[in-house]
Amino acid sequence: MILLTGATGKTGGETAKALAARGVKARVLVRDPAKGAALQALGHEIAVGDASDAASVKKALAGVERILILLPNSQQQEAMEKQLTDLAKQSGVKHVVKMSSMEAMASATTPIPMAHWAVEEHIRRSGLAWTMVKPNFFMQNLLGSAGSIKANKSFSLPFGNGRTAMMDARDIGAATAEVLAGKGHENRSYEITGPELLTFHEAAERFSAALGTKITYVPADPAVFMEIMKKVLPNEWHRNAVGQLFREIAEGGLNHTTQDFRKLTGRDPISLTQFVRDHAQLFQ
Ligand SMILES: NC(=O)c1ccc[n+]([C@@H]2O[C@H](COP(=O)([O-])OP(=O)(O)OC[C@H]3O[C@@H](n4cnc5c(N)ncnc54)[C@H](OP(=O)(O)O)[C@@H]3O)[C@@H](O)[C@H]2O)c1
Repeated sequence: MILLTGATGKTGGETAKALAARGVKARVLVRDPAKGAALQALGHEIAVGDASDAASVKKALAGVERILILLPNSQQQEAMEKQLTDLAKQSGVKHVVKMSSMEAMASATTPIPMAHWAVEEHIRRSGLAWTMVKPNFFMQNLLGSAGSIKANKSFSLPFGNGRTAMMDARDIGAATAEVLAGKGHENRSYEITGPELLTFHEAAERFSAALGTKITYVPADPAVFMEIMKKVLPNEWHRNAVGQLFREIAEGGLNHTTQDFRKLTGRDPISLTQFVRDHAQLFQ
């Protein structure tokens, strides 16, 4: 049995879909049973619980051999993911798969990548088999700019001329499903990226081509952007951590592509042009 955490979210949801498409039924830990209905419709089993509540996690882990550890960024993420690892080990899980990020490395200096790296190290020290899924920037992050693209034909983010090999969460789900249900992925880290290394000016060109109208990227002043973010991310720790991560991206932190996605899935990753076409109704 596979236990998924984070399956009501973006990448966990896509992982659940990709597993179901492969005919693999998993158990999913959900906080709100109502949010589990779509996962149940895919054939997955629901376990109601919270990563911070050890008793509910222990119950969900009964009979589980592989676990996907995937939680959103917060000040509690590192502690909760370490606890999930320890509970998994106590319950007899054999293989831990962690949703990490490409920026997570020993030399990381900002809170989110440092937390991911600390959890990665904790998992590697646990003695369990492990796999780290380390994605680049999600294309789905750009859905936050959909209103501006629709209304103003422009979007503003604080990435300057920084480049990312952004990738579609659907592809992250496909790659993660392969790691969970396929063979030979033990004790490996996969840095998965989209097909193209793009500045956000170049990303705007892909939007223009896909939507048939000129879309412009306007680099945001980071200080002004952080003021706007107060409404979106009221938690100060989270807002500052995201601000630091964005500065790293602007400075070239996600500046490479890899072949790991193709190795895992045997196909090319989804392009930004395709992503924009698939969500065109939100952008125009
Ligand atoms: N965005 C990027 O560009 C990017 C790039 C690389 C890596 N990442 C990493 O990807 C991860 C986020 O993935 P995502 O965007 O797919 O997440 P997401 O859409 O924010 O979903 C988070 C999931 O975690 C669940 N969750 C939250 N707190 C929980 C708790 N206490 N117990 C159990 N479940 C809980 C949520 O459940 P509810 O539905 O109940 O809230 C939801 O299913 C982060 O660790 C981030 O660092 C992101």
